[in-house]
Amino acid sequence: MARLRTQVAIIGAGPAGLTLARLLERQGVDSVVLEDRSREYVEQRIRAGVLEQGSVELLAEAGVAARLQREGLVHSGIELQFDNHRFRVALSDLTGGRSIVIYGQTEIVKDLIAARVASGAPILFEVEDVVLKDIGPGPPSVSFRHAGEEHELRCEIVAGCDGSHGPCRASVPASTLRSYSREYPYAWLGILAAVAPSNEELIYSHHRSGFALASMRSPALSRLYLQCRPEEDIANWPDSRIWEQLQLRLGLPGWQLKEGPVLEKGITPMRSLVYEPMQYGHLYLAGDACHIVPPTGAKGLNLALHDVRLLAEALTEFFANGATSLLEDYSERCLRRVWRAEHFSWWMTSMLHRPDDGNEFEVKLQLAQLRYISTSRAAATTLAENYVGLAKV
Ligand code: FAD
Ligand code: PHB
Repeated sequence: MARLRTQVAIIGAGPAGLTLARLLERQGVDSVVLEDRSREYVEQRIRAGVLEQGSVELLAEAGVAARLQREGLVHSGIELQFDNHRFRVALSDLTGGRSIVIYGQTEIVKDLIAARVASGAPILFEVEDVVLKDIGPGPPSVSFRHAGEEHELRCEIVAGCDGSHGPCRASVPASTLRSYSREYPYAWLGILAAVAPSNEELIYSHHRSGFALASMRSPALSRLYLQCRPEEDIANWPDSRIWEQLQLRLGLPGWQLKEGPVLEKGITPMRSLVYEPMQYGHLYLAGDACHIVPPTGAKGLNLALHDVRLLAEALTEFFANGATSLLEDYSERCLRRVWRAEHFSWWMTSMLHRPDDGNEFEVKLQLAQLRYISTSRAAATTLAENYVGLAKV
């Protein structure tokens, strides 16, 4: 058995774990990152693409935004499509100049891993059987197997950044954790296609056949999504059917989507889920490990980054002078933004997706809300300030 020691054991090398490790490293706090997948796998896993300005600023403060600032696509608006026309929500005009940046989560993860590896600080991929011990009264430790050898990592804090199916949240006694959730009767079928984006800005389309979204990853890569049923089998969706539905839901008279080779496709279920509190004893949860939002508001990655910003601040204080007040308030401070984002994501989702039972009353309400956004500056501002990320919640 190999024994290791660190100040913070970080479980999970997604955006939350990697950003936390980087922020702590800059403050002189030691950590070890443990990830159960391979480096190649986490660098290729296609997920989010929209960064709030605050997230870009955090990555810049962490010194990992050079490529993001070169290659990221700055957007100052999004388009809403309904009733056979498009309406532009002028994000920047409505929010005093704030904007979003399109840059793939895969690229953020690659940049963060490269920075970690270059610093020489420990990050272990393909670890197995991660088990948390003594997280309540402490002192905590994490046991795991790596390259066939058993390890014990002693630490002062465990950061649970292991996503929605990881072992950290499951280590908290059920009686101390409360969950709040909502399932949706639809899912997203997403594709990555080797074709230039058809529109300069993202298009969120409300359509009788179901929601569709045209997004992008770069000037040569389009990312597109279609509402489908959660139990849908991807095998029933040959590329031709996907393009046909995308054309139907996103097309307008005189405007067609550009098509190209499909590089990747998959179905993502939609959920809203919050676990409270986000801390127990010496364990602090961050990102998808303690909250999930449906992707319609583009908030999941941004929330994960906000959590670790607060956690890094609190841990820096704790290791500098033993102060525990920020650590004690961690969950409460995070949850204010989490619930704002939960509401916004639920609202966007409910406004844009076709009800599964085809309820016409609900469709009329959706269209009334979309028309309100397109005619009232106040309503458009509500959408815009939430979409770019509220400075204060
Ligand atoms: P994760 O990225 O899930 O990272 C957790 C890590 O922990 C993983 O690497 C996992 O392998 C590892 N792990 C799990 N179990 C163990 C274990 N036992 N031991 C060690 N490691 C473990 N969000 C947005 O903000 N904008 C968007 O546009 C957006 N679009 C999305 C589109 C799709 C299709 C999907 C699926 C998600 C989208 N999201 C979006 C959500 C966003 O991707 C997540 O919120 C984000 O990945 C959360 O980061 P995280 O680090 O908390 O969790
Ligand atoms: C994406 O580009 O993957 C994306 C964009 C906007 C969303 C969700 C996902 O709301």
